[in-house]
Amino acid sequence: MTQITITGRRPLRGQVRAAGAKNAALPILASTLLGGGDCQVTNLPLVRDVATMNTLLGLLGATVKQDRNQVVINTDTVQSLEAPYDLVKTMRASVLVLGPLLARFGEAVVSLPGGCAIGQRPVNLHLDGLKKLGATIELEHGYIRAHASGLKGERIDLETPTVTGTENLMMAACLAKGTTIINNAAMEPEIEDLAKFLNRRGANVSGAGSSHIVIEGVTKLQETEYSVMPDRIETGTYLIAGMVTGGDVEVSDCIPGHLDLLTSKLRESGAEVLETPNSVRVKAPKRIQALDVQTFPYPGFPTDLQAQMMAMMCVADGTSVITENVFEGRFLHVSELQRMGASITVDGSRAVVKGVSQLTGAPVMASDLRASAGLILAGLAAEGDTHITRVYHLERGYERMEDKLQGLGALVKREPSSV
Ligand code: EPZ
Repeated sequence: MTQITITGRRPLRGQVRAAGAKNAALPILASTLLGGGDCQVTNLPLVRDVATMNTLLGLLGATVKQDRNQVVINTDTVQSLEAPYDLVKTMRASVLVLGPLLARFGEAVVSLPGGCAIGQRPVNLHLDGLKKLGATIELEHGYIRAHASGLKGERIDLETPTVTGTENLMMAACLAKGTTIINNAAMEPEIEDLAKFLNRRGANVSGAGSSHIVIEGVTKLQETEYSVMPDRIETGTYLIAGMVTGGDVEVSDCIPGHLDLLTSKLRESGAEVLETPNSVRVKAPKRIQALDVQTFPYPGFPTDLQAQMMAMMCVADGTSVITENVFEGRFLHVSELQRMGASITVDGSRAVVKGVSQLTGAPVMASDLRASAGLILAGLAAEGDTHITRVYHLERGYERMEDKLQGLGALVKREPSSV
């Protein structure tokens, strides 16, 4: 196993480029199962989850030719319709193959993803929506067995704006007969990116990015090439890294408009934030002002930046309240931050963070993708060395994070670890 060691309290300065968005790449790659010849997808992030999705597509029989940040996929050769537990358990987003497989082949067998470190993560809304489109769904031995002799367009009212649920239903509806309406749809930019990719292939999706999406079914899609949107969560992570180290960091090739809530919070905490059409630069204040944050579905403050924000609040002036409204278990990073000297009390979905003058480096353990990013930021702010184990969590969603941090002046190295 490996660990990452960070020697903190060095101001980060300079520019880093945003990679492609993992959470846009995953549904786009899964949607190639709708068929229609070669799809060339570029600006892919070199992260483990993308590799896992490509492995899954290969297991199903697709031809997958990846060359660093791009891949050419052809799913005309797909002959298996089963996404096995061993693979799905390593990446919940594998459930995104359910909708396209069902729409194209009338059948899909996908392992139930099960819970994870941040919560139960049910998929009931995915399944209820597919049933609305005419699928029969059985759950047995930990698997979803879905059948449909031709999906039919329907109106689907989502109880909660689920991101991958909206994506699964949008993909399934592309080949359904007639019109599908998804109401109370998730509005994340990644959903808009998926819709752009589908429409580029001849689908007919309108309203993606709003809470009301209309899909007119078509009979087939055609080949295309597409570049994945930049990763707003990676961008936000590096901007907060600049903040916690008293630095000056610019992220290029990003979409500032995807980060409005974050940049307004950073300004509120004293940062100077400069934006161009494709970059955001943050100059940290001498002392970070404490502030309150609540996470909500987009365009609210993203839950995927909550741990990173908490790391920043640990060294702010004053007391902050962070409320996690999206996932019930997303405070696993708190106990590790407390080991670094943070003063945090958790009461249900609220964490009260009393800013301390400084954190101290310590051996800590990552628990999930975004918690590990929060611990990295805390290590960058802390006095002394922080050793972070189980860094495989980080590699799922951050491309070459140590290199990018070193490029900004951080003292970060990867070394073998016993755990
Ligand atoms: C997506 O997960 C992202 N993953 C997550 O990013 C992100 O944190 C999350 O959306 C929220 O923004 C990908 O896009 C691959 P949800 P998803 O369904 O779709 C409840 C990361 O770090 N719900 O929008 O699984 C659910 O319990 C990952 O990159 C149901 O009740 O999230 C949660 O409370 C972590 N029933 C809420 O909805 C369902 O059928 C939002 O979950 C589905 C969801």
